[in-house]
Amino acid sequence: AGINVAILGATGAVGTEIIQLLEERNFPIAKLKLLASPRSSGQEISFRGETLTVEEVTADSFKDVDLVLASAGGSTSKTWAQTIVDAGAVMVDNSSAFRMEDNVPLIVPEVNPEAASQHQGIIANPNCTTILMGLAVFPLHQVQSLQRLIVATYQSASGAGAKAMAELKTQAQAILNDETPTATAFPYPLAFNVFPHNSPLNEQGYCQEEMKMVKETRKIFGDSQLRISATCVRVPVLRAHSEAINLEFAEPFAVGKAKAILAEAPGVELREDWENNYFPMPNEATGKDAVFVGRIRQDISHPCGLELWLSGDQIRKGAALNAVQIAELLVKENLLKTTASAVSV
Ligand code: A2P
Repeated sequence: AGINVAILGATGAVGTEIIQLLEERNFPIAKLKLLASPRSSGQEISFRGETLTVEEVTADSFKDVDLVLASAGGSTSKTWAQTIVDAGAVMVDNSSAFRMEDNVPLIVPEVNPEAASQHQGIIANPNCTTILMGLAVFPLHQVQSLQRLIVATYQSASGAGAKAMAELKTQAQAILNDETPTATAFPYPLAFNVFPHNSPLNEQGYCQEEMKMVKETRKIFGDSQLRISATCVRVPVLRAHSEAINLEFAEPFAVGKAKAILAEAPGVELREDWENNYFPMPNEATGKDAVFVGRIRQDISHPCGLELWLSGDQIRKGAALNAVQIAELLVKENLLKTTASAVSV
């Protein structure tokens, strides 16, 4: 039989990667539909040796579609969610539009696959930094309950989409030519620079990206009280994010034990060579499925603290791969059919 799949945002940084992953992982597709804005309608993309044409998304786009993988921004997801659910399709949404809704499971398949069975037509893919952090932290949290988590991120341009990646290159080129770089996708030049994440700030001084890490991690871990504080920073890297994470447990957590757990953790690759000062780096994590974790050490400021460092491909595990893994989970658990159309959108 096979599944009729539509990709909403097929021409974007994440959509493009989703298409490649569906092919690479042999997802059981009967028909693949590529949807985007009128701007890219008619564009041709190859899939399994065939040439598919990108169509403008319309109210008729989701007829006979079983699964929609959406990555076209929050407002596009909000515009089409009800139409998708009414058409009887399940939507795996990469945007932040529905992540915190009670009736929308927020899933990292290695962490909380069981939540998928609760879906009512929409399943949300978490924020990229949240996914990467969850893979490294949840296996430790399962062994010993986490009390508090402090994270600083080093986020690549890809999180802001294909245009932002192109802009970083143009800016770097401009600087090498002794010209003044211009910024449109970002508020400031990112090349040869870093700046705190530019999402809107709340009254406590935290930006939206930082609060996503707080709220989404609590929802995915199923621990609404977990104490988390994040500082999110954009760095001039093309497509993999890194994070410095400090974990505080109720009791001391032996470094050796943490390493042994992470060496076995799904989706994680332990990368550390202390003699050579070699640890995860975004250029090596780029294009890889696994999140690279290393530099695991005792926090010298707290007997129950651990420090670790990670790098993970933002477009892959941070977005497209996680969405495709959710889709695979839906197929495996026979959860692709939805009867409910009572989703609040
Ligand atoms: P388009 O290429 O037609 O603009 P990125 O995150 O890399 O910027 O990609 C965003 C994706 O979302 C692109 O595929 C883009 O299509 C798509 N998109 C943006 N706005 C809309 C819209 N209003 N309707 C449908 N697709 C949209």
